[in-house]
Amino acid sequence: MAYRNSRENERNCTFVRIFLPLIIAIVFLQTSDCKNHQWHSLSLSHHWPQTVCLMASEACKVPQNIDYWTVHGLWPKGDELCNKTWHFEIQNVKDILPELKLWWPDVLHPNSTQFWKHEWEKHGTCAATLQSLNTQEKYFSKTLDLFHKTDLNSVLKKFNILPSSNYYMLKVIENALVSVYGVMPKIQCLKPEGRSAQILGQIELCFSKDFDLLNCTHDVFSTHTTENDRQYANYLGLSVCDPQEQISYPPIEHLY
Ligand SMILES: *[C@@H]1O[C@H](CO)[C@@H](O)[C@H](O)[C@H]1NC(C)=O
Ligand SMILES: *[C@@H]1O[C@H](CO)[C@@H](O)[C@H](O)[C@H]1NC(C)=O
Ligand SMILES: *[C@@H]1O[C@H](CO)[C@@H](O)[C@H](O)[C@H]1NC(C)=O
Repeated sequence: MAYRNSRENERNCTFVRIFLPLIIAIVFLQTSDCKNHQWHSLSLSHHWPQTVCLMASEACKVPQNIDYWTVHGLWPKGDELCNKTWHFEIQNVKDILPELKLWWPDVLHPNSTQFWKHEWEKHGTCAATLQSLNTQEKYFSKTLDLFHKTDLNSVLKKFNILPSSNYYMLKVIENALVSVYGVMPKIQCLKPEGRSAQILGQIELCFSKDFDLLNCTHDVFSTHTTENDRQYANYLGLSVCDPQEQISYPPIEHLY
């Protein structure tokens, strides 16, 4: 009896000491390394070049030809950096390079391809789980396509929401966009310093995997926020505009 108990004990201990850690390790590896990247919606992010410049730590001037909202990126919500070995190569987008330079410029570093590389590696590699986005050419083209189809620049103009010394309330901008798109955008501002007003900075439109417009919901955005995202968000200094405070929409100054 005693013999059997001790054998059983030994077996239990073997399980706890060796197999249990092994099982935990396997489960851990499966959820981290071999993670099946899951995301359910995308956001097309536009930014206002003047605000991008205001946020820059280095000297910044908006390139001469740019006086409209430009693409920041197309982001699968809740996922990033999905394939670290899939590098951006400029020749993959050479056919749409003029378009990219026009509508998706790197406001901070005009002649650089760093911005596209960053967006591809952080977001494009995740978007690529969709067949319609599974090459660099498709990802960048589709983003431009959505940008043109939704045509945020015209919508804002149509509702007389124009860069000027005027101020706007969030509701006014939101109502204009909802009336056209039928869904709630996410509108972000650069937070005021001292007594200055918050500054309009970024507008996101959200899409399903079939590229139908969706309401942007904050919970979709924040579920899987990583440390990296938080640092980036801090660096950007953008957050959802305060509905109680007026918003400035500064004209672009091409300061050379
Ligand atoms: C990552 O990208 C590389 C290069 O395109 C590709 O060969 C590989 O299959 C990708 N890995 C995954 C897990 O998708
Ligand atoms: C970018 O390139 C264009 C043409 O190649 C050049 O005229 C311009 O000065 C460059 N701008 C910067 C900021 O390097
Ligand atoms: C978006 O939200 C509004 C109001 O909450 C709702 O009426 C509408 O059906 C939603 N649209 C979609 C596409 O989910």
